[in-house]
Amino acid sequence: MPSADREVQLWRADLDVSPAQLRRLIGYLSAEELTRAARLRRERDRRRWTAARGWLRRLLGAELGVPAATVALRVAASGKPSVPGLCFSLSHSGTLALIAVSHEHEVGVDVEAVTADRPVPERFLCAAERTAVDGAADRSRAALQCWVGKEAYVKGTGEGIDDRIRELDMSPLVASRPATLPDGWSVWPIEVGPGYMGALAVGWRGSGDIRPPRVRPVSSHPRLAGATRRATVARAVGGV
Ligand SMILES: CC(C)(COP(=O)(O)OP(=O)(O)OC[C@H]1O[C@@H](n2cnc3c(N)ncnc32)[C@H](O)[C@@H]1OP(=O)(O)O)[C@@H](O)C(=O)NCCC(=O)NCCS
Repeated sequence: MPSADREVQLWRADLDVSPAQLRRLIGYLSAEELTRAARLRRERDRRRWTAARGWLRRLLGAELGVPAATVALRVAASGKPSVPGLCFSLSHSGTLALIAVSHEHEVGVDVEAVTADRPVPERFLCAAERTAVDGAADRSRAALQCWVGKEAYVKGTGEGIDDRIRELDMSPLVASRPATLPDGWSVWPIEVGPGYMGALAVGWRGSGDIRPPRVRPVSSHPRLAGATRRATVARAVGGV
């Protein structure tokens, strides 16, 4: 069974960063991004949004071989961000961001913090999903798994959320299996970590099954790990 690791990478970033790290990440943002961050009312949201965008720029810059601040991010009318030469998708929830990157396939990713106070409205589920949810040991977890699958898919295609989201069948995810859609997209449940649920959608054109990539910390990216280690050593010896 071939692995998707080579075709799609999945990175997680911790958004509660130190003040020094936040200052470095702010330095990668464009004037427009800084304005957008400043519009967020809560200080915690500003900090986390900025960290997510800074990590996204660092990661895309490392993949494209350009400085993070020069990554040419554009946003389509639908809201889907893009960059020439690379497919990616970003999702953030709570204290973490999940970023999918691929040089070959369109990707969509979603992560949601599992909270008891925000159950998924079951009117968004199709009949097969409702059956899977009814048979699940943890009903709200199963519904959330379907929901993150739907969000990952609509983020991959760039459609965004509308009424058609109800027709998407993500019931296989409840049994930890991938959902295969009629248009060739595959959606996997993703193990993100305690307290979170995730899903990855890939516009997979190959034949046969593939395994989803494992989630890795963004600081371990081969082209970022050296820089992160150098910054840690610099801090340890009294530098910035
Ligand atoms: C895109 C959408 C699915 C995001 O879901 P979410 O769970 O709220 O947020 P996530 O953290 O997972 O994703 C946000 C990221 O998705 C990306 N994004 C935004 N719009 C997108 C789109 N149409 N397609 C793909 N990706 C999109 C951006 O990178 C964004 O990050 P940013 O806010 O830092 O710029 C959702 O906001 C949406 O469908 N919006 C359009 C329609 C709408 O507003 N409907 C509201 C009625 S329910």
